[in-house]
Amino acid sequence: MNTDAKTMLEIKDLHVYYDNIHALKGVSLKVKEGEIVSLIGANGAGKTTTLQTISGLIQSRQGKIVFQGKDITKEKPHLICQAGIAQVPEGRRIFARLAVKDNLKLGAFTVKDTPENLEKDRAKFYKDFPRMSERKNQMAGTLSGGEQQMLAMGRAIMSRPKLLILDEPSMGLSPLFVKEIFSVIKKLKEDGVTILLVEQNAKMALSIADYAYVIETGKITLEGPAQELLNNPDIKKAYLGA
Ligand SMILES: Nc1ncnc2c1ncn2[C@@H]1O[C@H](COP(=O)(O)OP(=O)(O)OP(=O)(O)O)[C@@H](O)[C@H]1O
Ligand SMILES: [Mg+2]
Repeated sequence: MNTDAKTMLEIKDLHVYYDNIHALKGVSLKVKEGEIVSLIGANGAGKTTTLQTISGLIQSRQGKIVFQGKDITKEKPHLICQAGIAQVPEGRRIFARLAVKDNLKLGAFTVKDTPENLEKDRAKFYKDFPRMSERKNQMAGTLSGGEQQMLAMGRAIMSRPKLLILDEPSMGLSPLFVKEIFSVIKKLKEDGVTILLVEQNAKMALSIADYAYVIETGKITLEGPAQELLNNPDIKKAYLGA
């Protein structure tokens, strides 16, 4: 962890309910500028709930979310997106009946810039992802699962996010594609994007992260530099299949 880095996102004591189910019971975490922070945990632990609350899709009952010094706790989702937070949701949700290139165009919906510069963003994406370039005109719903994940990430990148939030990007992908998706995440970090990564694949998530949190039934139970968690015997036993 880079201790000099500025905090980009801070969540303090977040409580979220679904009716009477207390899904988040005081979650606190920080994401520093330029880092990859992983949030790992079992099914139903509250990972997606945490991410959707950050994006404003779910309202918390208690707690605070601060992004770049601004309180966004009660902000509307589109304003949170405009502020620079982009989320790739679980299950991808690309526009299946639109071509790859049109999905990308929609990703830049909130960006105020010239058509030429937006075209440059897309050209860079196609250069970094030749597989997508070959499929520009293909209907997105006919892409493979891994390709759809790439497109979903591309669409989020087109909004020029400061913070990219990824919910289980490796889910359902073959080992080869998992590797490819993780190398994409690393590249994004090199390009200066800060990343909050939720993964069931704890090994991969911890191996690329700077810092990590473990969530269990709505509570953060452990946090630390990702490398430390990777070597923690309890984590090994519970999440790394050792
Ligand atoms: N819309 C909803 N209505 C009621 N309960 C919900 C809803 N969404 C989530 N929950 C519950 O909240 C808890 C946390 O769910 P969440 O989706 O955040 O878990 P998760 O860590 O993302 O799990 P997974 O790894 O399976 O995606 C679970 O017990 C879940 O059943
Ligand atoms: Mg989830």
